[in-house]
Amino acid sequence: MALLVPPEVIASLNSRLIWVLVFIAAVVSRIISRRYWTLIRDISGPFWRSFPSLWVVSQLWKGHLEAEQTRLHRKHGYCVRIRDNEVSVSHPDAVRQLLHANIAKFNYIQGTWYAIFSLPDYHYVNQMSEMVPRRHIEEAPYDVDTVLALFTKAIDKYSQAGKPFEFSTWFTFFAFDVLGEVTFSNSFGFVGTGINIGNAIANTRSLALYVAVMDHYTWFHNLTLGNPLLSRLGIQPSSHIFGTCLAAISARKENPEVRKDMMQQWLDTRAKYPGRMAENEIFAAAVANVGADVDTVIAALQSRFYYLLRYPQYLQQLRAELDTAQAQEELTQIVQDNEAQKLPFLQACIKEIYWFQNSVPSPLPRVVPKGGMTIGGRYFPEGVIFSINPWVYHRNPALFGGDCDQFNPDRWLLGDTKTMESFLIHWGAGYNQCPELNLAHFKITKITATLIRDFEFKLTDPKKEWEWTNHFTFVPWGSPCNVRRSF
Ligand code: HEM
Repeated sequence: MALLVPPEVIASLNSRLIWVLVFIAAVVSRIISRRYWTLIRDISGPFWRSFPSLWVVSQLWKGHLEAEQTRLHRKHGYCVRIRDNEVSVSHPDAVRQLLHANIAKFNYIQGTWYAIFSLPDYHYVNQMSEMVPRRHIEEAPYDVDTVLALFTKAIDKYSQAGKPFEFSTWFTFFAFDVLGEVTFSNSFGFVGTGINIGNAIANTRSLALYVAVMDHYTWFHNLTLGNPLLSRLGIQPSSHIFGTCLAAISARKENPEVRKDMMQQWLDTRAKYPGRMAENEIFAAAVANVGADVDTVIAALQSRFYYLLRYPQYLQQLRAELDTAQAQEELTQIVQDNEAQKLPFLQACIKEIYWFQNSVPSPLPRVVPKGGMTIGGRYFPEGVIFSINPWVYHRNPALFGGDCDQFNPDRWLLGDTKTMESFLIHWGAGYNQCPELNLAHFKITKITATLIRDFEFKLTDPKKEWEWTNHFTFVPWGSPCNVRRSF
């Protein structure tokens, strides 16, 4: 056979073969060096751990990274290597040393992963995408009651018409409108009109998936949709947020009734300290609020109602507590946080769901600083990325008890609740923890208490479980219910 093939063809085939072999050898040696030529080689994890992001992205794509990570931690312990240079860690030392770090003394940075939150591109560095801890800023105020009053009217229509009510749709409307009130002194009009303006629901879901995956391929994002030139074309999944904010900012300029909303606070900060916030940073902060608020709040509200409806014994107990308070005239038309504080079972349910189904079931990465650090008695060199997934951390039986896979609000009324509370990290922790946790908590408390008191909800199919996928925040759908006004 060889005799039939001319020698120059054989020579050319040989040289191609050599290049193919060289390429394969280079790839294999890179894989081997990533796996073994590193100080974290002894840390167990999934088979694909020595590839950058392959395992993490495949789990994100499947939609349940948190469940796989929990399984691996239960198998391998506090540390699980999930990427070539990333260790998922669930040791309390990690929370103390990484999340609660004193940034004045110890200036480490977050993973580059956060850069993707500069939406739509890197002109707009916001609080979430800022990787240098000292530049994180603070804000405040809220007006939830107006939107909540409208919201109850919308539910009334479902109650009167006997039509199924879909939490995922209406909580999205609610979350967008409250955010509009709080940030721009004006709701976007979702709840009032009952219209999915600008297809916000689908856009929010596709943006969540895009951000979750592109967090791992920021170089690709930079070249494509994150490129400031291309982003001007407005074709990325975040465009609707960008457009929504621009429209809200122009409408706000014409609004004589603006309150001291978040926008005003940023403008004041800028007037007082011109160097502290550039104009595009104000816009970026508004965009960040939409991104950080809407998904987390939808998820948090939906999970509260879903679990209470799935566990009717707890729903009944909560209703009884609210009914008693109502009979004693301790509650106003929209239940206020100070009224809700006096209702222990309501507080227990709210806390249980923060813990059991936290809205951000994803790894929060931090880079080990110069000099390395010791966590759980083991030394890690500079440059290793540590990530703490609040979901995994909360499902640790050593911290929260053997029944930590069960939904059980009573755990917050019995036993050593103070110690358990000190382990909660659903808002993150330390300098980078959610700056709007009060706002979020107030919204969740008011809406849970007011709606459970005023309406009777029942899942249309009590046997059917809801669905959700985890794309940084978790995205739930599919728990329609029947509703009837009860108060
Ligand atoms: C139940 C609702 C919410 C939950 C569970 C939640 C959770 C979190 C978590 C875990 C982080 C920290 C991420 C990290 O360490 O990297 C965070 C950060 C953040 N959240 Fe929230 N959040 C909620 C609602 C909100 C709301 C309503 C807003 C705005 C109106 C908001 C704005 C932000 C911002 C701007 C950051 C970035 C903070 C920084 O990097 O300094 N969040 N949130």
